[in-house]
Amino acid sequence: KVTNLAPTPPMGWNSWNTFQAKIDEKLLRDMVDTYVATGMRDAGYKYFVLDDGWMAMERDKNGSLVADPKKFPSGMKSLADYVHSKGLKFGIYNCAGDKTCGGYPGTRGHEYEDARLYASWGVDFLKYDWCNTDSLNAREAYITMARALQATGRPILFSLCEWGNHQPWLWADGVGEMYRATGDITANFDKDKHMGTWTALSVMTIVDKMPAIRQYNGPNHWNDADMLEVGNGMSYAEDKAHFSIWCMLSAPLMAGNDLRKMSAQTKEILTNKEAIAINQDAMGVSAYRSSATDSLEVWVKPLSNNNWAVCFLNRAGHAQNVNYAWAEHALQDAQSKQSADFTKTTYKLRDVWAKKDAGTTKKAFKQSIAAHDAVMFMLTK
Ligand code: DGJ
Repeated sequence: KVTNLAPTPPMGWNSWNTFQAKIDEKLLRDMVDTYVATGMRDAGYKYFVLDDGWMAMERDKNGSLVADPKKFPSGMKSLADYVHSKGLKFGIYNCAGDKTCGGYPGTRGHEYEDARLYASWGVDFLKYDWCNTDSLNAREAYITMARALQATGRPILFSLCEWGNHQPWLWADGVGEMYRATGDITANFDKDKHMGTWTALSVMTIVDKMPAIRQYNGPNHWNDADMLEVGNGMSYAEDKAHFSIWCMLSAPLMAGNDLRKMSAQTKEILTNKEAIAINQDAMGVSAYRSSATDSLEVWVKPLSNNNWAVCFLNRAGHAQNVNYAWAEHALQDAQSKQSADFTKTTYKLRDVWAKKDAGTTKKAFKQSIAAHDAVMFMLTK
């Protein structure tokens, strides 16, 4: 499947993190309206994705999937049309196994007919999960579905969700445009949540898994660090740090909050154009962690035109003082081969969250950073 559907990390909204299977057409139409009204669409978010829970528990007598008639009395095509009428793209979910994680009918053995059905509804994005897959080979299962999507003739972005279990970064380039690298996220900064049979991962647990696979990230094959938890219960600082790192990683930005109830601060984070520009940089190189001392980390991302983004992340539960003399820290990215020597070249600093110019790299960056907060700079010559 060779497409150019995701030259930069996909951006959108997905129903799962807030609503799980409790979705219906009334709620979703309201969400689409709010998506536009809050400025999310204009900030660059494009996909509107239904996760697990949209289907009836059984296929119909012809073997076709059906939308749950109680939740979606007007049918899925009608919702897709509504999403399109607002200038957005429509995404849906299924699973490579016999059943989805929520127990709804899975796609195994129905790949081509399900793909044709999605295309007939106007689906633009498919998230494809990995529950109840028994003996399936992950690579082959995802390739089968990718071929089925391609056979429809409709461009459908393919989002792999096997949680990084089969190292999709080694084979998913050309199969899908993004692939989950980890298990499920939870709205906690640094504490995993034990759910019985599985563990929901904190934002920092996910962050720590990303540097090892950064070299596989790039246009049309993005390491997916999971959907955002911004606005889902963490503090303002934590949400800002979470969003900053997703931007630094060039990770897909799929909002997962209730857009109808978002606070001014949540909206400010999710629609920060300068942060998004770092995420969407055309080079698509993920950040590297240049240092980590006393829970204070410095993340560095090379950008187009020899620009850079640098993020200071305070993982400690207390404020910490940063004193960062730029000239003592040459930036050197092994992947893009881009480098910056601050003893020779001066860069202008732009503080992305304060939304103000912040001097140059001639002067050390000295500031106290609050617990679980981040400061993110854009560096330009
Ligand atoms: C597991 C996935 O990782 C989640 O993102 C979500 O899609 C659920 N399955 C749905 O059942």
